[in-house]
Amino acid sequence: MNKRTLLAAVSTAALFASYVPAHAAGEVEVLHWWTSGGEAAALNVLKDDLETKGVTWQDMPIAGGGGEQAMTVLRARVTSGNPPVAVQMLGFDILDWAAEGALANLNEVAARENWDEVVPAALQSFSKYEDTWIAAPVNVHSTNWVWANKKIFDELGLSEPTTWDELVAALDKIKDAGYIPLAHGGQAWQEATIFDGIVMGAGGPDFYQRALIDLDPEALGSETMKIAFDRMATLRSYVDDNFSGRDWNLASSMVIEGQAGMQMMGDWAKGEFLNAGKQPGEDFLCFRIPGSQGTVTFNADQFAMFSVSEDRREAQIEMASSIMSPAFQTAFNVVKGSVPARMDVPDTAFDACGKKGMADLAAASESGTLFGSLAHGHAAAASVKNAFYDVITAHFNGEFSSEEAVEELVNAVAGALLLEYVRCPGALGAGTTCRRKNRRQRWQQLPKSDRGPAYRSRAFRSAYRVPCHASFWHRVSS
Ligand code: BGC
Repeated sequence: MNKRTLLAAVSTAALFASYVPAHAAGEVEVLHWWTSGGEAAALNVLKDDLETKGVTWQDMPIAGGGGEQAMTVLRARVTSGNPPVAVQMLGFDILDWAAEGALANLNEVAARENWDEVVPAALQSFSKYEDTWIAAPVNVHSTNWVWANKKIFDELGLSEPTTWDELVAALDKIKDAGYIPLAHGGQAWQEATIFDGIVMGAGGPDFYQRALIDLDPEALGSETMKIAFDRMATLRSYVDDNFSGRDWNLASSMVIEGQAGMQMMGDWAKGEFLNAGKQPGEDFLCFRIPGSQGTVTFNADQFAMFSVSEDRREAQIEMASSIMSPAFQTAFNVVKGSVPARMDVPDTAFDACGKKGMADLAAASESGTLFGSLAHGHAAAASVKNAFYDVITAHFNGEFSSEEAVEELVNAVAGALLLEYVRCPGALGAGTTCRRKNRRQRWQQLPKSDRGPAYRSRAFRSAYRVPCHASFWHRVSS
């Protein structure tokens, strides 16, 4: 345990020492993907807190930033009839599990603790399903951040870039001085994380809404989208040769250690800087992706609570309640790099980047410039998100020109939507619209007339394999 982790653990223990549990509440098995140094330090805050309440932690870590692998493992666990008590989850995935009837009802504890009043509406739309609380939000992250090495910036006389052209000029200067300009890990979710902020910077909030949330084919196929892809290609030219497959926290280390000038990543990266003993303003800088200032592309980690047997229920409720306590929200988020999921937590304990994160979130929420992150499952369902991932990463790796990427994107998104919402099988009522229950199942018998032009896209073809049986579908409209 390094000094900072130790300090966090000690201060957390002190913070919760006043709580004396009446009796042991049991055990929680928790599936999550917090496996980097900074993430593990934050997780310890949660484990320690629960231990003071007599709740034992059974760890189920599944490495892989963004949580894709964790969601695959989860599916297998639920299918075998033995879900974990609590699962770290993002946005639309939570709603999908709720729609499958797999999640527990937290309304009693939520009402007792007044969650409705303190959790921002943007988060509640993923913590509640048909008026039932099904998840406890632990934080709010945002993806449109840049993390920079201050020593390199000072040495080269650079100030924080505020426009795309200034960013490119700074990257050039860093390159000329012999550093790696942009630390990046070549994994689809990391490229998509950058894409959130680049789309926002290229097109502004209305465009982000139309393209990434409304999935409007015109916006997806527009000249503005081509500019966003061009910018991604420009960024690709500032990445080192060994970027492929690199984990995000190793890219953060390159900035921490002064090999690279910047990383574009969500504010979980700050957790890595802090875990390495670095201070904002002294060792590193945090600023918004140029062009995206004034907007926030957010994702919130929530613990989705699964329907479990009665004997595991007490510990589950204790965990949900602990997560929602204001003291915990502070203790956890100052370590994690995120900001609280409650609106009534003061910013006093947070560092300069945390204070900025909280102020940005409040301002964006006020002015209507707070949007769900596409990359982290808060703009569209997983199938659509994955369609974006495929195109963004293929383009980043030079498989498509920007023109081709735009065209592929329109087709891939249409294909994913077609699979997501189709004409219901006869048993559910002809002429109604259905949404797949289990997105891992593939549709085999979609009638030709429902295929449309999207049929041509690769993403559509690879996804086109699922049994036509009423039990695979929910009716969503008539
Ligand atoms: C999660 C963060 C996590 C990051 C990298 C994001 O999807 O919201 O909590 O640190 O992935 O693993």
